[in-house]
Amino acid sequence: MKAIKVGLLGIGTVGSGTFHVLSRNQAEIRGRAGRGIEIAMVADLDTARAKSIVGDACEVVDDARKVIANPEIDIVVELIGGYGVAKSLVLEAIAAGKHVVTANKALLAVHGTEIFAAAHAKGVIVAFEAAVAGGIPIIKALREGLTANRIEWIAGIINGTTNFILSEMRSKGLDFGTVLKEAQRLGYAEADPSFDIEGIDAAHKATIMSAIAFGIPVQFEKAHVEGITALQAADIKYAEQLGYRIKLLGIARRREQGVELRVHPTLIPAQRLIANVEGAMNAVVVQADAVGTTLYYGKGAGAEPTASAVVADLVDITRLATADPDHRVPHLAFQPDAMNDTPILPM
Ligand code: HSE
Repeated sequence: MKAIKVGLLGIGTVGSGTFHVLSRNQAEIRGRAGRGIEIAMVADLDTARAKSIVGDACEVVDDARKVIANPEIDIVVELIGGYGVAKSLVLEAIAAGKHVVTANKALLAVHGTEIFAAAHAKGVIVAFEAAVAGGIPIIKALREGLTANRIEWIAGIINGTTNFILSEMRSKGLDFGTVLKEAQRLGYAEADPSFDIEGIDAAHKATIMSAIAFGIPVQFEKAHVEGITALQAADIKYAEQLGYRIKLLGIARRREQGVELRVHPTLIPAQRLIANVEGAMNAVVVQADAVGTTLYYGKGAGAEPTASAVVADLVDITRLATADPDHRVPHLAFQPDAMNDTPILPM
């Protein structure tokens, strides 16, 4: 069977990671997917840099619409980020009948309802494992591994930048500004780091998880969002003296009257596992009725951890696209006719 053809929109950190992971593990990936997965086209404004990454392996263009218009391309991978051009391109790719893989949590948290409805109408898949907690397969865990359960709550350290900042402030006594600069230098932070430190990035991810866990539409605008900018070194020190660590948690909890969706700094007893998640690592705890408590831990950002999730989605889509289309439906998250209207509670 011929290889499935992929077009990358944007080849920055995650895009180049995706290219390298797919090339390096080609044979294993082909075996698992049932056919080859080939990056056939890359669109990036910086074509020289893109060529320096992919060499002669595929065509490089500076216009994303050329990728979408190419009838040979089966899957479009959106790695541009943001809500603007990325949204138009994702909707255009869906309209052109392409499956889409995206790492864009902001786009899905804010415009997910529209995007998933468009994908559902067109019968294509939008996959987004890389959008939440980077390399941790939390979307798969919530949607598939825990599918027998009624999920009660999710609490996660889902922003590596803020966890790095809080860890460094606590262990090295450094001030907020110095550690933020270091997080930016290490490539953890968003293009606009206010998304990290104000809790917005974590709220995007918590919104997506709440939608999957509770079968509700994505409703970022209803999330309670508080970042770490008001925290001082003294707060962290006093918390420690009292036996606690301060972590920025994204929380989605089922209550009788609705769903709580919130992001805020939280005092956690120092002996808890999640209190000991340090540096830019992510961790998500899920409480569910049948399985009890489960904990997922790993790298939440970076080229290859995030690429690991992108490639997993490519393999999933390849398997599904090769199967009977009727069998794809359960894999479309947020099916419009399967969602309930449980409200997000005001905080
Ligand atoms: N800025 C994000 C973080 C990157 O720090 O976790 C991964 O989504």
